[in-house]
Amino acid sequence: MKIDHIGIATRNLDEGLAVWRDALGLEVDGTEEVTEQKVRVAMLAVGDTHVELLEALSPDSAVAKFIEKRGPGIHHIAIEVHDIKASLANLKSKGARLIDETPRVGAGGCLVAFVHPSSANGVLLELVQHL
Ligand code: CO
Repeated sequence: MKIDHIGIATRNLDEGLAVWRDALGLEVDGTEEVTEQKVRVAMLAVGDTHVELLEALSPDSAVAKFIEKRGPGIHHIAIEVHDIKASLANLKSKGARLIDETPRVGAGGCLVAFVHPSSANGVLLELVQHL
């Protein structure tokens, strides 16, 4: 396993890109809308992992609610797993509170599932399986 990406909530992608791309010099791998999660996403490569900038597309998106409560900042950490269904079953059997009982399609066409921060030391945890 490895850290697939770190998700950062921004008020808008341009504000995030001004820092991570323009000032720091990271390259943008791609930008896309993940309509199911009501976000626009920019993936920037850092070695073999990524920074994922997130911009809410609607006031009821989880990212919009996060920013309303806490302001922009680290939103989640994503771990790459080989078998997301097995990982979810394992977490559930250990009593973890799953936001997604079954994987859904996330950025880049990956399978993703979120684990509630109350089960991961206050960190919103995303599992990612690349197909
Ligand atoms: Co993510």
